[in-house]
Order: sequence, then C-alpha cells, then structure tokens
Amino acid sequence: MYPLQRNRRLRTSEAIRALVRETTLSPNDFLVPLFVVEGKGVKDEITSMPNYYRYSLDLLEKEVKSLWNMGLKAVLLFVKVPDNLKDNVGKEALNPEGLMQRAIKTVKNACPDMLVMTDVALDPYSVYGHDGIVKNGIILNDETAKVLGQMSLSHAQAGADFVAPSDMMDGRILTIREALDNDGFINTGIMSYSAKYASAFYGPFRDALDSAPVDATDIPKDKKTYQMDFANRSEAIKETEMDIDEGADIVMVKPGLCYLDIVREIKNAVDVPVAVYQVSGEYAMIKAASEKGWLDHDAVMMEQITSIKRAGADIIASYFAKDVVKILNK
Ligand code: PBG
Repeated sequence: MYPLQRNRRLRTSEAIRALVRETTLSPNDFLVPLFVVEGKGVKDEITSMPNYYRYSLDLLEKEVKSLWNMGLKAVLLFVKVPDNLKDNVGKEALNPEGLMQRAIKTVKNACPDMLVMTDVALDPYSVYGHDGIVKNGIILNDETAKVLGQMSLSHAQAGADFVAPSDMMDGRILTIREALDNDGFINTGIMSYSAKYASAFYGPFRDALDSAPVDATDIPKDKKTYQMDFANRSEAIKETEMDIDEGADIVMVKPGLCYLDIVREIKNAVDVPVAVYQVSGEYAMIKAASEKGWLDHDAVMMEQITSIKRAGADIIASYFAKDVVKILNK
C-alpha cells in the first residue's frame, strides 16, 4: 500500500486529529462518587486520595450544586458510618433517618434533577468491614441479599433514582428488584457491580470510609469469597449475564485500567449500558506519581479516562470527573 497510504497524513495537525478522533469525553460520561460524613462544616481531605474529600451534609449541598453547574449530572453516594452505629447485620443501613437517607434528600433538595445513585453493601455499616453478614468465618449469602433488598428499598423511599449494589452476593439483583417492585418502586433502577474483582486497588477507598476487613480470628481478611478472582475472564461474562437476567439496568466492571479487556468483552456481549469504575487506587497512583514529578497529572488522567471509554465504557465512575470536565470546558 505504501507509498499511496501514508497514515501520518491524518496526524499532521491538531485540527485533522480532532476531525478523525474516534473517542471523545463529555460531562455526560461521568458518575461522581461522593463521600459523606456526619457533622457540620466538614470537608475532610482523604489522606490516600489527595484533593478528594468527605463532606458533611451542609457542604455536600454546595458541592452538588457546583457539580451541576459544571454539567455533571449524576452522583454515587457513599457514607462513612460512625463506629458506634456499626454491627454485623447493617441495622443502621435501614434507618430512615440514617446518614445515607439524609444525604439522598440533601442532594435532591439542592439539585432536584441530579441523578442520585447509592452504594448498597454492608461494609460501611459492618463492625467486621465485610459486605455481608459474617457467621463462623463465612459471609452469609441469602441472609445478606435480603438485607440489601431492604436497604435498597430504604434508599428508594428516601428518593434515590438508582441503587448500586457493590457487594457481589449471588442473587442479590433479583432480591433487590423484588423488594423495590413489591413496594411500587418500579422505576428505581439498579446499576449492578456485576464484574467486581477482589482488587488491591480499593485500599484508599477503605481508608476513606474506615471500612477495611478487620484483623480478628474467624473474620476473613479479604473479600475473595465473594469478589472475583482477578485471573478470570469468562466468569465476568457469566456474572454480568446473570445480573442482567435478574434485572440489572446497568452493569459495571471494576476496577478500570487493569480490566479493560473485560470491559471490551462485556461491551460486545451485552446490550445494556456498561459502567466502569476507575477506583481509588487508580486515582492514588496518578496523584502520587505526579506529586513526585514523575508523571504529568492531566496528561495521564486524560489518557487513562479516554482509554476506559475507548474500551467500551458508556459510563465512567471517577474521582477525576471534575478535573476532566474543567479541562473539557477550557
Ligand atoms: C464497597 C465498595 C468498595 C468500593 C466501592 N464500593 C470497596 C470494597 O469492595 O472493598 C471501592 C471503590 C474504590 O476503591 O474507589 N462494597
């Protein structure tokens, strides 16, 4: 073909590169994770997540208004639960006046059109730091799924648009769908963390919520009996297809960068929107290397996030959402 075909012609200027660019980012791609704490006037920087914060409800209100004004229209809420409210069964997760329930209302009052998604799993509420109920060293499946159904209903009653179960119990999508439908919440959506791997990249998030598995006898030290083995690929397809059959409206792959092969396979295999979570450890790596002056923060951030979209993400949950949108709006 050469010299008739010269591929570099399409790279000669920014204008031609922009014209033929196959993947572009927009504020509509993003889901913004937000960490919420009790208190007033609290904006706490998370040590292992520089420039990312936990907000008390009053400052959460300000933050979501500012997100909305930037064109960011969807948030994913996480709460840091005070130690004295933690137990083994997630009782506080069902409290209609709990922090999550108040956070949902706060966001909806501040920005009625903001899409509110909520994390559904027991870990922030668990004395043991597990996503489910622990008994004799085992994370109970069906008992946990039942609580997750009740928790989802409680979030829907508080005004959540979507619930996002991140726990990886079997059958929980069906249990949640039934709990919502039985109470008339037929339009509350489910974004399932369908292919969620047992990853070491969640460390900073567990710092943020103080939700790491505790070190005690008869308590599993990791989440490998419910989150997926990172060596597996076919299993991700199976998990995702089962969640869709059970009623998931949106499926997710998590983490992002190391799992973009899985993202592409799932995107090709299913016909529901695919979300990707660029997780806390991925955020921390870029922050740490750029603080050292070893990587160009914005350049690496844009490259990674564009790659996530190119791999097949329809939705990107990212702690960089604001930073990216600031660059897009320049
Ligand atoms: C809890 C949950 C986790 C994350 C989202 N929901 C941590 C975990 O499974 O231990 C991780 C998010 C991140 O690292 O940014 N079920």
